[in-house]
Amino acid sequence: MKTGSYPGKVSIRIADSDIDFHAEPGDPLLRAALRSGIGMAYDCNSGGCGSCQIELVEGEIEDIWPDAPGIGARARKRGRLLACQCRPLSDCVVEARVEDRFRPVVLPQRRSVRLVGFRPITHDLAEFTFASEDGKADFQPGQYAMLALPGVEGERAYSMANLANAEGQWSFVIKRMAGGAASNRLFDEREALEGLELDGPYGTAYLREETPRDIILVAGGSGLSPILSIAAGIARSEKLAGKRVMVFYGGREAKDLCAARQLDRLFPDGHRFEVIEATSEGEEGAREAGASRVQYKGFIHEVLAAYLKENALDFGGFDYYFCGPPPMINALNRMLQLEFNVPEDQLFFDSFL
Ligand SMILES: Cc1cc2nc3c(=O)[nH]c(=O)nc-3n(C[C@H](O)[C@H](O)[C@H](O)COP(=O)(O)OP(=O)(O)OC[C@H]3O[C@@H](n4cnc5c(N)ncnc54)[C@H](O)[C@@H]3O)c2cc1C
Ligand code: FES
Repeated sequence: MKTGSYPGKVSIRIADSDIDFHAEPGDPLLRAALRSGIGMAYDCNSGGCGSCQIELVEGEIEDIWPDAPGIGARARKRGRLLACQCRPLSDCVVEARVEDRFRPVVLPQRRSVRLVGFRPITHDLAEFTFASEDGKADFQPGQYAMLALPGVEGERAYSMANLANAEGQWSFVIKRMAGGAASNRLFDEREALEGLELDGPYGTAYLREETPRDIILVAGGSGLSPILSIAAGIARSEKLAGKRVMVFYGGREAKDLCAARQLDRLFPDGHRFEVIEATSEGEEGAREAGASRVQYKGFIHEVLAAYLKENALDFGGFDYYFCGPPPMINALNRMLQLEFNVPEDQLFFDSFL
């Protein structure tokens, strides 16, 4: 491994397979694979989850974030690397996990964008809309893109809140994080931002329209972003026209709750759609204005379990989409799989590491 300047296009081969692809100069190895339509395993694309671990068999690779939390010191010592955080410096052979379920449905592309819209939602959430210079915005509801901000080290994953469109618009609900380099820059310096690049789409937690089941969406904080896109995808889908949709949204206090306000307009008749909101530190049972809004106290996974039990609903009768902070994602996965035996292939999630 070394740091260096990038040669021209290089060729990458997956060991013990007939898979090979090219990487453009400076492109992370994972993204080069996905751009070529190869299903290299990954989740966060941000160095945090460890799903994209590979081993270098031959060639030279630059580790672009040696402190990335997604890989431990012992694995690094054994020569393992994160495919999302390394760039090939020569032709390479790597050992990597490749599976059909990671194969992109839309090939990711890098494009220049400019900020064209800003809409505050709560005290710390706002919707940012970017327009791409090539006029393209092609993605599945629930996917994310990587945003490069000049002056901020590394790129940040943000999940689209809108649907694919012919105007080249990419919208994201972004949360201002205490001390966060990218989110504070976006909130505070948005009018002066230049040289922005978006690379995407990425992610496998996108809406599956071929399902016999009803649908539950769960989000906390900025997890609202992909849930808005998925809900809009459901509202528009003829295949999902008869499906019941339940949205569970969690915040710390009442001032964090905003899902019902954002979602009610998608299902104006309301008959197959409910939003259940909960605060971990708020009031018990408060009911607020809004057609579908019922507010509970508790962590959102507990509220979800209580609600399904109270209404005698079968946990296995739903597809689940959930996005937000890692503790919420872990709690939901544990609860749904271990306690209620929901099969793994009914769970689609992104952990906002
Ligand atoms: C799949 C996915 C989807 C997401 N969707 C959303 C969304 O829709 N809305 C939203 O508000 N947030 C989303 N996030 C979280 C978002 O990507 C940022 O982590 C968050 O905005 C905090 O960034 P920050 O720069 O403000 O904070 P910081 O603390 O400055 O940065 C935190 C993150 O930046 C990355 N990072 C830090 N240093 C480096 C480095 N040297 N090289 C590479 N990467 C580095 C890491 O991913 C780290 O978790 C998502 C995260 C993931 C993984
Ligand atoms: S996909 Fe590389 S660490 Fe998560």
